Amino acid sequence: MTYDNILVDHAPPVTTITINRPRQLNALSTRTLQEIHDAVQAAGNDETVRAVIITGSGERAFCAGADIGELQALETAQEGYAHSRSSHQVLFAMEQLDKPIIMAVNGYALGGGMELAMAGDIILASENAAFGQPEVNLGIIPGFGGTQRLPRLIGRTRALELLLTGDRIDAAEAFRLGLVNRVVPLAQLLPAARQIAETIAQKAPLAIALTKRSVYEGLEAGPRAGNEAEMAYFGLAVGTADRKEGTTAFLEKRQPEWQGK
Ligand code: COA
Repeated sequence: MTYDNILVDHAPPVTTITINRPRQLNALSTRTLQEIHDAVQAAGNDETVRAVIITGSGERAFCAGADIGELQALETAQEGYAHSRSSHQVLFAMEQLDKPIIMAVNGYALGGGMELAMAGDIILASENAAFGQPEVNLGIIPGFGGTQRLPRLIGRTRALELLLTGDRIDAAEAFRLGLVNRVVPLAQLLPAARQIAETIAQKAPLAIALTKRSVYEGLEAGPRAGNEAEMAYFGLAVGTADRKEGTTAFLEKRQPEWQGK
């Protein structure tokens, strides 16, 4: 797939995807979301990539949400459902990716932009970032998972306040609410994201994949089934060559050499 709306920087062990529609504040047209999906899947299939960073181009916006021009042109409930469903599938696929996705929120993250950020495994924000779910101003509701991921991240009442008022919050408030992992100056954002990505890249690849699966499956299913999943994935991890290597390397006081097997 050729990309018109994103930039992809492949610098193993990290791929950085930059939404590149600065004149539209990096709004997510359908095409843009498809391109992000394609680039994320390509990174997932590339053995040299161990982590993905997603950010926005310019200094104003991470992503100002779904493309409102496209929303305005929708005619029927069926079209609305299809629009939301295809977006959900892209964000589910991010959670299901066996590699971590770090969101580097460099400005506005509104509506679908905030929902995109919440589909990441780790969310970093620059000091100038701003978050909000302003869909109610447009006569719609969040359609990229915001009504589900936001309450799970920050709790029901705090989520409902943001969802029902459409108010914007700054990065410091997003940190206070537990929406983002940390806030850094804009110039430090990508270096900080890269540092986390490189730390994760030093770990056993299958252990990273299985940890991610266990967390998301548990959140979906609840603690009982989640703990069952953890037991099964723990068993899978024990069955890997990397578990033998990791535990042996510790006892031999040396660095492990992972095979991803
Ligand atoms: N979809 C399409 N275009 C968008 C957009 C979106 N979600 N958000 C911003 N843009 C476009 C604007 O239409 C404008 O285009 P123009 O220069 O051709 O007129 C350009 O990006 C710059 O936006 P503008 O509104 O002029 O900048 P601002 O600094 O005054 O305000 C925002 C910035 C982010 C507060 C404002 O653009 C905004 O509220 N955007 C919509 C956010 C939203 O509701 N997202 C949820 C969608 S479900």
